[in-house]
Amino acid sequence: ATEQGAESFERAIERDQRIEPRDWMPDAYRGTMVRQIAQHAHSEIIGMQPEGAWITRAPSLRRKAILLAKVQDEAGHGLYLYSAAETLGADRADLTDKLISGRQKYSSIFNYPTLTFADVGVIGWLVDGAAICNQVPLCRTSYGPYARAMIRICKEESFHQRQGYELLMTMMRGTPEQREMVQDAVDRWWWPSLMMFGPPDAESANTAQSMAWKIKRHTNDELRQRFVDMTVPQAEALGVRLPDPELRWNPERGHHDFGEVDWAEFRRVVGGGGPCNAERIAVRRAAHEEGAWVREAAAAYAAKQAARRDA
Ligand code: ACO
Repeated sequence: ATEQGAESFERAIERDQRIEPRDWMPDAYRGTMVRQIAQHAHSEIIGMQPEGAWITRAPSLRRKAILLAKVQDEAGHGLYLYSAAETLGADRADLTDKLISGRQKYSSIFNYPTLTFADVGVIGWLVDGAAICNQVPLCRTSYGPYARAMIRICKEESFHQRQGYELLMTMMRGTPEQREMVQDAVDRWWWPSLMMFGPPDAESANTAQSMAWKIKRHTNDELRQRFVDMTVPQAEALGVRLPDPELRWNPERGHHDFGEVDWAEFRRVVGGGGPCNAERIAVRRAAHEEGAWVREAAAAYAAKQAARRDA
């Protein structure tokens, strides 16, 4: 049966068909999918914190309503993705445990602080922009539940990106101080946004296998380049400077050349040593512990309902 399963798995990948939860799949494929989906889910959940910090300090009711809705969307994406991981046999409580004990990763980007309200706009523009660049191809990833989740998530991410850009346009039409706040936020978030795409291809341990399985459709460097090319004209329209003296159009390549990312910083942040890693995990852990009574009550209620049904 395994041999037959392996054959139909290979055939499905070759023909660009989706792998579904009940299909046979290699253990390593399942393991990679759980790793990536869990990391993605954790990123959405931890990603609520940097922007969530501004909900109480939003400058107007309108901005507060928008930000509240956006952070709620991120919670929804996280829960949606945990459900996708469950279709592979992962246990949600176990995934949360691995996150708060540092055994599973989440995106490096959420370990930087949000110092001013301009950061909310820049996160929408650059961070959600990078997320879309990475996630649109994942709508065609080979694992069915993940691919379908990505379709809806990408629609909401596009909306997030536009709200960020609109916020920044508004600030850029404001006072010189507001324009300076936007430039300062761009200076701080630009390089970390480029790190979201992962290590350079030559150092990416998982890319080759994930491309062969059509989990990933493009390499880390390809998507990083696509993001830079997409963002340069947006920065011009906005009137901000991207903080890279080496950034320039290369007509031969048909792409922008850009400077080297500080990969030592990337490794430090992924390894737990970024400016906010400890705080992010502490907040997540506290929320989990404070929610224990809700989970217990829900489980007790479900058990009581089941007992009544069986009686
Ligand atoms: N932050 C933290 N860890 C990272 C990052 C990052 N920006 N980039 C790569 N890594 C990790 C990988 O998870 C991998 O670690 P592991 O093997 O221990 O799991 C290691 O660094 C080496 O990287 P790769 O071999 O390139 O890993 P992979 O093939 O999984 O590619 C990528 C990384 C591009 C992030 C991929 O996992 C992906 O596309 N994930 C889905 C998107 C996602 O998670 N987005 C989250 C942020 S966006 C948002 O939530 C708004």
